[in-house]
Amino acid sequence: MYSIKKITVDAYWVGVNDRKITLFESVYPVSRGMSYNSYLVLDEKTVLLDTVDSSASLQFLENVEKALNGRKLDYLIINHMEPDHCANIGAIVDKYPSVKIVGNAKTFTMMSQFFDFEIESRKIVIKEGDTINTGRHNFTFVMAPMVHWPEAMVTYDTTDKILYSADAFGSFGAMDGNIFADECDFENKWLDDARRYYTNIVGKYGVQVQSLLKKASTLEISMICPLHGPIWRENLGFIIDKYMKWSSYTPEKKSALIVYGSVHGHTENTADIFANSLGERGVKEIAVYNASTTHFSTIIAESFKYSHIVFACATYNMSLFPPMQVVLHELAEHNLQNRTFAFIENGTWAPVAAKLMQECVDKLKNDKIIEQKVTIKSALNEQSCAELEKLADAVASDINAL
Ligand SMILES: Cc1cc2nc3c(=O)[nH]c(=O)nc-3n(C[C@H](O)[C@H](O)[C@H](O)COP(=O)(O)O)c2cc1C
Ligand SMILES: [Fe+2]
Ligand SMILES: [Fe+2]
Repeated sequence: MYSIKKITVDAYWVGVNDRKITLFESVYPVSRGMSYNSYLVLDEKTVLLDTVDSSASLQFLENVEKALNGRKLDYLIINHMEPDHCANIGAIVDKYPSVKIVGNAKTFTMMSQFFDFEIESRKIVIKEGDTINTGRHNFTFVMAPMVHWPEAMVTYDTTDKILYSADAFGSFGAMDGNIFADECDFENKWLDDARRYYTNIVGKYGVQVQSLLKKASTLEISMICPLHGPIWRENLGFIIDKYMKWSSYTPEKKSALIVYGSVHGHTENTADIFANSLGERGVKEIAVYNASTTHFSTIIAESFKYSHIVFACATYNMSLFPPMQVVLHELAEHNLQNRTFAFIENGTWAPVAAKLMQECVDKLKNDKIIEQKVTIKSALNEQSCAELEKLADAVASDINAL
């Protein structure tokens, strides 16, 4: 049975919520599911903006058919060729063979790699600033390379001031009946997933996101329709401000994130004691994560949020404990910048974890390191406890000075 929502006088959400999915892109846990948004505008001509994942084809095709209400489909605009959005292009062409497909030159190169239907006779190749008129509406196109693939673009409806923003402004999570951000307690229910989505999916491409934000700032926008998660029609400044911070690698919180990797519990015990010491020194909203039991995507998101990051790790076969290795590798992969780090290491015979962690962090841009590192030989003792207190002094005073 179809499930569609009217979002303006003539635009419909025809996307699908997927609550069966456990790992988005086969790697990111999505305990709240995922939405694949697609939009249909009923003007003198009919316009579909993007399709959905292959797991949602049946529901999607039913939705489009219902919203078209017997009309044929004139245009399909493709903002992004990743399969979570493009998988149903072939099915749409089969069902509406006279449809014209709108995309940029790179869109069609990718389309011919993913599909073998006849593209040439259907394609309308646009470039930045080109316009398509469909009656009442004018659609114009803004290239958004690497947000999140090279061909990505966004579409702006100049008539109703709607930005169809592709993966930008998206989030993990299925929508539970409320499709607008102002209806669904975004800050409490969605923000963490939106941050985890942004930082892990496009966090690496801050420069490109900044350039899209700059171009978008010249447009008057009354609504943002992303390809995942809620639609923005009120308080757009809230999410734009978050994007400004995330894409410029500016911390949201002046506090400490502590991430530890511990085989037998002594490093864990140290991380816990250290967190308490910071708390006693007035640091608020400290976050502690066990790298063994926390998915790296959560730690990446929290790293983008916090100003100070303390890593505590056991030495493991002259290397880092593997779950911490993953975290440090992923941080560099996601291009995190402008953070202050401190290190605690453990080792029973030849501790090298602090040195190895520092080598990873040195790859990050504009990082600051608090020099007092703490070395634990197997378990905390009086001397390492005193060093830990000194490190807490240094980290707390650095945070409190911000
Ligand atoms: C498989 C394995 C390999 C280890 N390799 C090293 C090592 O190369 N150098 C070292 O100093 N300690 C090594 N250790 C000891 C740990 O770094 C650490 O001292 C010990 O696990 C106590 O910390 P924990 O309770 O937080 O795990 C190793 C431990 C394990 C279990
Ligand atoms: Fe994508
Ligand atoms: Fe996507």
